Amino acid sequence: MKNSDHLKKLEEDGFAFICSMDALGESTGRKFLVSDVEIAVFKINSEVFVVSNVCPHQQTHLIYDGFVEDEFVVCPAHGWKFNLKTGKKDSGSNGLQVYPVEVVDEKIYVKVLPRQLQW
Ligand code: FES
Repeated sequence: MKNSDHLKKLEEDGFAFICSMDALGESTGRKFLVSDVEIAVFKINSEVFVVSNVCPHQQTHLIYDGFVEDEFVVCPAHGWKFNLKTGKKDSGSNGLQVYPVEVVDEKIYVKVLPRQLQW
């Protein structure tokens, strides 16, 4: 598929552009707001991971500032550790929401569903 066709398909599928690869440091996070959802984006060995920026422990918005260790990020508040691929805690229990990510022409696109209102 040509890149232009791929981009069109991504947009149709609800992916949004967030930044280019060179805007991310190696193994350091950056936060973005997409569709009112705070996300934390990490680049590790040229692979990009996108998770919720809100730690489920005490709802701190600090995951982007976490320390990266292999494929895990450690919340800077109290040290809970999450797998960046699955979002799960190192114990295997549920942790962070993960979001689909695509890189086309060194540009990063993320699919974040808008938050549902809870009644
Ligand atoms: S708020 Fe993240 S570990 Fe406590």
